[in-house]
Amino acid sequence: MKIAKISRPHPLRHGTVVIPMFRNSSRTAVGEEFPELKKLLQDKKSLPAEGESLFCHALASGRRFLFIASGRSDRPADARVLACRIMTELRKKHIRRALLFISVEMKVGRGFWLNLIDYLHLNNYRFDRYMRKKDRPVQHIDLLCRQKSPLPAAEISAREMIDRSVVFCRDLVNEIPARITPDELVRTAVALADEYHLARQVWRKKELAQNGMHGLLAVGAAAGCPPALIRLDYVPAGFSRTVALVGKGITFDAGGLNLKPGTSMDEMKCDMAGAAVVLAIMKSVAMLRLPVKVIALAAAAENMPGSQAYKPGDIITYANKKTVEIVNTDAEGRLILADALIVAARQKPDVIIEFSTLTGAIITALGDGIAGVMCRNRKLRGELLRAADACGELLWELPLFSEYRKDIRSKIADLKNANYHGASSIKAGLFLNEFTGHIPFAHLDIAGTAFLSKPGFWLAAEGATGFGVRLLIEYLKNLT
Ligand code: BES
Ligand code: MN
Ligand code: ZN
Repeated sequence: MKIAKISRPHPLRHGTVVIPMFRNSSRTAVGEEFPELKKLLQDKKSLPAEGESLFCHALASGRRFLFIASGRSDRPADARVLACRIMTELRKKHIRRALLFISVEMKVGRGFWLNLIDYLHLNNYRFDRYMRKKDRPVQHIDLLCRQKSPLPAAEISAREMIDRSVVFCRDLVNEIPARITPDELVRTAVALADEYHLARQVWRKKELAQNGMHGLLAVGAAAGCPPALIRLDYVPAGFSRTVALVGKGITFDAGGLNLKPGTSMDEMKCDMAGAAVVLAIMKSVAMLRLPVKVIALAAAAENMPGSQAYKPGDIITYANKKTVEIVNTDAEGRLILADALIVAARQKPDVIIEFSTLTGAIITALGDGIAGVMCRNRKLRGELLRAADACGELLWELPLFSEYRKDIRSKIADLKNANYHGASSIKAGLFLNEFTGHIPFAHLDIAGTAFLSKPGFWLAAEGATGFGVRLLIEYLKNLT
C-alpha cells in the first residue's frame, strides 16, 4: 500500500474521504475543506459518537465520506485505534483508494504520524496464501494534510520500509510448519544476506558438534530436518556500537517426549517467531542503513518426539562447560538459546537482546498485548521500555529475582531446564542469564504477543504480528 501526501483532492480518484473526528478537532475546518458537508456538520447528532463510524454519501460531489470518531489526536494509542478502524472499514467495503483528511488544528506530532502510518500498513495485512478467495488489500491512502509542520516524505517511505520487514516476519511466522523447517530458515537467511550484502555463517550438525552446541543438537535430535545456528552480520562503515540479537527458532514445538496436549500444540508453528523477528530486523536495519553494527543469531530446530529424541534425565554440556539436566523436553527454547547466547557473548557486543516465545506463563501474566522484558541493566531496560511506548509494541518488566535461582539448580548438574513451582517466565529468564557473561542482556518473552489467537485491540487480523521489529528499529534509531 502506498501512503503519500497530496495537496488537493482528485475529483475521480478520491471517491472515498476518511474524516477522523477527534475529541479535540473542530468541525469548521472539515466544512471549509468539503463544503458539501457543511449542512451535515451543523447537526452534531447526525455525526458518529465516540467509538462509532459513519459512512455517508454527499450527493453534491458524488463522494462518500467515512467519519470515524475516536479519542484524541495527541495520544499515540488513539492513532493506532484510528488506523485499525479505518482499514477495517475500507476493507469491509472493498475500497482500494481513499483520501485521509488531517485538518489544520489537530495536535499531531511524530508519535501520531509514526503510529498512524504503521497501523494503517499493519491492518492491511492478511495471511491468505491458502485461501481460494482472497480479499484484495487497500492500494492507496492519500494524506490531505493541512498541518503547519507536515510530516517529511522521507519519513513516510522509511515507515513503509520498516512495515515491509514486518510483513516479511509475519509471513514467515504464519507459513505452515510443513514448509518452515530449519532448512527453510537457513535458505531464507542466506537469501536475505545475499540481497543486502550481509556477512553470514551457518552451523549445521557437523559444525554444531565441533563447537559443542549441544542444546541445538539435543532438541533437534528426533526431527526430520536437522537443527541449525544462523548468524548474519550488518557492519556499517564507522560504527561505534554493536548490538547482538538472538532469536528462538523452534519451527514446530510438539513438546518432544513431554508431548504437548492437542489444544496446546495447534499454534506451535509460531515458536520460531523470535528467529523471524531477528531476521526481519536485519532486513530493516540494512534497508535503512542504520549506523550500528548488528549481529543476529537465529537458533533453529524442530522439537519432536521419536526414537532419537533427547530424554528427561539426559544431561548436556555446553561450550562454556556448564551442564544442564533435562527435566522436561518441552522447556526446549532455553536449551537452544543457550548455545546462541554463548556465541553472542563471545563477540563482546555492547548489549544482547533476545526474543523468544518462551513460556505460556507470560500469557497468563500479561496476555497477548504486552511482552515481558527481563533485564538487569537499567539503561538498556529503560531504552527498550521507551521504544516500546513510542511504537505500541508494549513491554512490562519482570524481575530477574536471584533468590529463584535455586529452583533451577540441579542435584546432578549445574542447572536444570524446568521447575514446577511458579514464576516460570522469570526462571526461564534466569536460566538464559547464565549464558550471557557480563554483557548487558535483555530477554523479551513474546509468547503472547507474537501470535494472536483472536483479533487484537490495534490489529484486526489474527495470527503473526511481527512484534519486536518496530520496537527494535525504534531502539536502534535512538542509539544513534
Ligand atoms: N513454546 C512454548 C511456549 C509457548 C506457549 C509459546 C504458548 C507460545 C504460546 C515453550 O517451549 C514451552 O513449552 N514452555 C513450557 C515450559 C515448561 C515446560 C517449563 C511452558 O511454558 O509451559
Ligand atoms: Mn516447548
Ligand atoms: Zn517452545
